[in-house]
Formats: sequence, C-alpha cells, structure tokens
Amino acid sequence: MFSGKARAYTNIALIKYWGKENQELIIPMNNSLSLTLDAFYTETTVIFSEELTEDRFYLDNQLQDPKATLNVSRFLDLVRQKADCSLYATVKSQNFVPTAAGLASSASGLAALAGAASAALNLALSPAELSRLARRGSGSACRSIYGGFAEWQKGTSDETSYAVEVPSNGFEDELSMLFVVVNDAQKDISSRDGMQRTVETSAFYDGWLQTVPQDLQKAKQAIAERNFAALGEVTEASALKMHGTTLAANPPFTYWSAESMLAMNLVRQIRTAGIPCYFTMDAGPNVKILVERKNEAMVQAALAEHFAPQQLILAHAGPKIEILSKEDA
Ligand code: DP6
Repeated sequence: MFSGKARAYTNIALIKYWGKENQELIIPMNNSLSLTLDAFYTETTVIFSEELTEDRFYLDNQLQDPKATLNVSRFLDLVRQKADCSLYATVKSQNFVPTAAGLASSASGLAALAGAASAALNLALSPAELSRLARRGSGSACRSIYGGFAEWQKGTSDETSYAVEVPSNGFEDELSMLFVVVNDAQKDISSRDGMQRTVETSAFYDGWLQTVPQDLQKAKQAIAERNFAALGEVTEASALKMHGTTLAANPPFTYWSAESMLAMNLVRQIRTAGIPCYFTMDAGPNVKILVERKNEAMVQAALAEHFAPQQLILAHAGPKIEILSKEDA
C-alpha cells in the first residue's frame, strides 16, 4: 500500500488562459498569470493498494459516478505510467470553500491530486515537473503548484509547458480579492467547452491572442514595480477581452448575468469615487474584485449594499502546494 496526501489552493488568473493549441496534452495558446488564494483549497488523499480491482473516487465523502471516476482514473494512469505501477487507488478529495456556491475549482482539485498521487508513488518531482503533471488534469491547475503569483509559460510540448513563480518581493501580501458570488439561471458551459468553441469559431479570437504578450508584459512590470493601478487595469482588460471573444463565437454565449453586470458597474463606480479596485471573471457569472488590502473593508461595505453577506467572500494570497503526508506499508 502506498499513500500520499496533499493540499493545494485555487488560483485566479489576472491574465487569462483561454484556448488550447493541443487538447490532448493541454498546451495553451497563450501564457497566463495568476494569483494563488488562501480562501479555497482542496485536500486529497490517494491510496494505491493491491486489494483494489478498480479506482474509487470520493468527493466530499460521496462516492462519485463512473464518469467522474473515469476522469480521475485517466489522470492516475499518467502517474502510474511514470512510476511503472499498476495498482488501483482510492482517491478521497475534500473541497474547502466558504459556501456551497459553485466555487469548487478544478485548479486546486487537480493540483492536489497530482501532488498526492505523485507523493504516494515516490516520484520526487520538481515544482516544474509537478506543474507539468497537474497541467494534464486541468490547465489552470499547473499554476496552483506555487503560492503568490505564477506564470504558465505555454511552451511548445509536454516537456516545455509549465508554470513558474513570478518574483514579487511579497507584493501579493498587499492585495485582496473579494469574490462576489452571483446566482445564475443559465446552463453552464464549462471552461473546456467554452474555450474550444471560441478558438474554433470566434471572429474575435485572433484579436485576443495578439494582445496577450503585451498584457503579460504589463502585468509583470506592474508586479515588479508594485504598481497596483497598472496591475488592476491590465487584469480587467484581459478579462474583458477574453469574455469579448465568447460573444462572437458560433453559437454565441456569455458567462455574464445581470448580477455580474451590477457587480462590474459597482466596481467602476467605486473606482470613480477614488478607491482603486478592478474586476475579473472566469467561466461563470461570479465577479472577483482585486483591491489593495488597505481598502478591502471599504469595497466590501460598498458591495454589501447590493449583495447579501454570504455572497461576499474575501480572499488573500495563498501558499504553494503542500504534501501533508506519505506512507509506504
Ligand atoms: C477562464 O483550466 O478549467 O478560468 O485546461 O480545459 O481544464 P482546462 O480548463 P481550465 O480553464 C480555466 C479558464 C479560465 C482562465 C484561467 O484560469 O486562466
């Protein structure tokens, strides 16, 4: 029996990943840059055992159906192959999120799975190798190997596509991210399906791609210079451009709901009133507000006039992945 346990925190991209060059290997079309957060994380235990005749996957103590289990099995196959191991495993994952509001993240989930499974089988991976492995489960997971800021360098192959730490001199500790959890009646389009449809059909996709290198450069410079307004501006611009591509897809779609628009408009109003804050959004209607820690209470109070307290979740920079235990028996 070989077991490993890991904890990984979620990350939110400031410069978005949107589109794959290679679906199978999850090589992205563009580099992306994220901030790892402390408020949402996943703890996963993987136990490989001679006694099992198939993989078993429990999420939040519930045994998962064959489809969800197959996704985990396919990922475990990569780890088994690397370790030259043919044992089946029991995987137990626990998502730690402040509310049950659809904030469970594939980034923290797949990073924790990669960390736990590779620790169990004694793979002794470097951060770059672990990032590469996590990437195969979900692209954004490759950034959750690191605390603070991380850049996923797209590379051109399985070997060269992984995330690295972005030097920041602790700038991330001055920042907060306020999650505005918004209800949405629409049927979800996963990030995986949404980005593929956009790459294949959106007339705006090339426009998005062309501006990413410049935006990434601006973000890294802003981090190096501790320039919050510059980082916020490019964060908001990257999200708006990414979401713009979905409107020109065929069939067109949007992740925005009326409440998302309300939150984004409030951010603009608060900014006009003199408090710098900026929004970003991912493949869902929730809005995330980047604000300096010293101003977080003011922004939270302004949002609380329109949203219920349980819809507002404050997060700060989070740590890197942690291997909590490993055991051979
Ligand atoms: C909008 O990493 O969930 O959140 O690689 O297909 O698993 P797959 O997609 P995923 O996509 C995340 C997209 C995003 C932007 C980002 O996190 O960079």
